[in-house]
Amino acid sequence: MIPSYLFWLPRTFFRCLSLLLVLSLTVSCAATAAQPTDGSYSYKSPSSDGIGKVYYGREIANVMGYQGANWLARPSRATEERSDMAVDALMLNKDDVVADIGAGLGYISFQLARWVKEGKVVAVDVQPEMLALLEAERDKYNVSNIETVLGTESDPNLPAESIDMAVMFDAYHEFAYPEEMMTGIVKALRPGGQVVLAEYRAENPLVLIKKHHKMTQKQVKKELTAAGLSWIKTDDRLPQQHLMFFEKPTSTLKQADT
Ligand SMILES: C[S@@+](CC[C@H](N)C(=O)[O-])C[C@H]1O[C@@H](n2cnc3c(N)ncnc32)[C@H](O)[C@@H]1O
Repeated sequence: MIPSYLFWLPRTFFRCLSLLLVLSLTVSCAATAAQPTDGSYSYKSPSSDGIGKVYYGREIANVMGYQGANWLARPSRATEERSDMAVDALMLNKDDVVADIGAGLGYISFQLARWVKEGKVVAVDVQPEMLALLEAERDKYNVSNIETVLGTESDPNLPAESIDMAVMFDAYHEFAYPEEMMTGIVKALRPGGQVVLAEYRAENPLVLIKKHHKMTQKQVKKELTAAGLSWIKTDDRLPQQHLMFFEKPTSTLKQADT
């Protein structure tokens, strides 16, 4: 006679097996939930200086709040960054329209305005408080060729083909929607117009800036060429930042060639 516990063995075995299956399914669902994707973006738990949103393998940095605006106007900045040399390198024409995207309180916008005396600077930012600081300074010194535009996280709010150049100084790495922002910027550029990025060098550990507030050249190229721009050159004259030049192709034919 077969002992009764032997009848229970297969049942117990199958119960354990199905329990294991349910458990592994739950674990794999939980893993997927921790890594959701959202078009070109994926997500991870945020680093101390990042937002936990990932674009082309790069975690996007958190936005520098207007409460820290004084840092942008610190007296040592002129020698640390030599933005005078960066603005020289742009080779602007005096009647150019140049958009300063992520303008902050206008540290760069005011320098640009001196070059485009017959053109204008369009200073774009998402923080109205930053733009208010810029406007107060502009009005105090009667600077007539700087306009401000309040953008959104995903749209610079610029009309199509209205600008000759877009510059982003220490700003692009903070864009929460870089893909959408670049689509808007490329649309706003005239054919042949340029995009210039100044980003702290992530390749250099001696550049003492938070990790996600720096970028490598390789990463910048990856993200901006994905926006349909062509890399022209990287200017190495700045002490701590890459100054990278990109161009909007003059025709769709050229775009297809590149
Ligand atoms: C570190 S500050 C640099 C400001 C300025 N370019 C400078 O060099 O002084 C970065 C600025 O980018 C702005 N910003 C972040 N995301 C933005 C977006 N999607 N569109 C426009 N501005 C943005 C922030 O509000 C902040 O003022």
